[in-house]
Amino acid sequence: MEKRRGMIRSGETDAFRVFSGAADGLDGVFIDVYGEGAVLMVHEGIAPRGLDVRSAAGAALRVLGPAGVRAVYLKPFAKDRSGLGGALPAVVMDPTPAAGAALPEELRVHEHGATLEVRLYDGLSTGLFLDQRENRRFVRDWCAGLVRERSVAPSVLNTFAYTCAFSVAAARAGALATSVDVSGRYLGWGKRNFGHNAIDAGPHRFAKMDTFEFLQYARRKGLRYDVIVLDPPSFASGSKRKGQRPWSSVADYPRLVREAAGVACPGALILASTNTRELCLPGRLERAIIDGLGVEPVWVGLPGPPADFAAERGRMAARAFEVPRESVARGLPGATSRVRR
Ligand SMILES: C[S@@+](CC[C@H](N)C(=O)[O-])C[C@H]1O[C@@H](n2cnc3c(N)ncnc32)[C@H](O)[C@@H]1O
Repeated sequence: MEKRRGMIRSGETDAFRVFSGAADGLDGVFIDVYGEGAVLMVHEGIAPRGLDVRSAAGAALRVLGPAGVRAVYLKPFAKDRSGLGGALPAVVMDPTPAAGAALPEELRVHEHGATLEVRLYDGLSTGLFLDQRENRRFVRDWCAGLVRERSVAPSVLNTFAYTCAFSVAAARAGALATSVDVSGRYLGWGKRNFGHNAIDAGPHRFAKMDTFEFLQYARRKGLRYDVIVLDPPSFASGSKRKGQRPWSSVADYPRLVREAAGVACPGALILASTNTRELCLPGRLERAIIDGLGVEPVWVGLPGPPADFAAERGRMAARAFEVPRESVARGLPGATSRVRR
């Protein structure tokens, strides 16, 4: 908490990681603070055997309490979830925390001036990936630069949008965002996030669709984007019924880049990110990007992980680049008209 004091005081954010597994002395154990709540994540099979999670939660509350944290929620991550048949452990949906007093279902946290909704007992995730904080700021600043350069609002495509935090960052800078996700529930959450920032969601677009389906649709319609965010999950099982294809980052990343380039304005910025272990190995994400584009792009520097994620440097990878003209043609034979949204 001492180390995070500067972050809190500067108003940078009130949602951050305070305990980072092995780097802080307990392998497989992580604690994130979200305003007045905290989440204790325990990775089974990695965390010390016999760890008493209730007393760990109590200890966390004693330390975090003076900083305003009133509850610590537990999220156990099973080593192998195949035996659970898709079911979540009951504790991750339980409003009663492992330590402290129950908090409202919906909390709001703040990040670089944005307000974002999180839910601490709504499954294994909270609605906000804290490790992308600086990349969201980067997208906001890039869009602000485009707004300064020209009079039209830049168009941003946020694929695998989840609760649309990247879209909110872009919209706050004056961009028009299209958020694509297979989950209507998450897109609804994303719309609320627009509202929490006093941004009218009306002119923005929310597409409940498989990302590849959307990219093909956008191609057909001649839609073009100035900024594209690619931040997919490592795996998604897909659903024939919902028209959602199975997704694997390792296998599908190059194709994702290729098809995204097909809906980019020449010179557009793509931010490509991943937490997939193999793609985080040195040079692997770059390779996937070059394979997708068919040519090496001009790379654009990113800020790197936020200070509270410094210990997790090798567990995420992100690169930004300008889409080469020839890659646009490669991803998109035919459509040439520049139509916004
Ligand atoms: C890892 S999160 C993405 C994180 C997000 N980019 C962010 O910054 O908050 C995964 C999201 O991808 C969505 N998703 C999974 N498969 C998808 C697909 N084929 N097309 C579109 N969205 C998908 C899920 O519904 C979920 O919201």
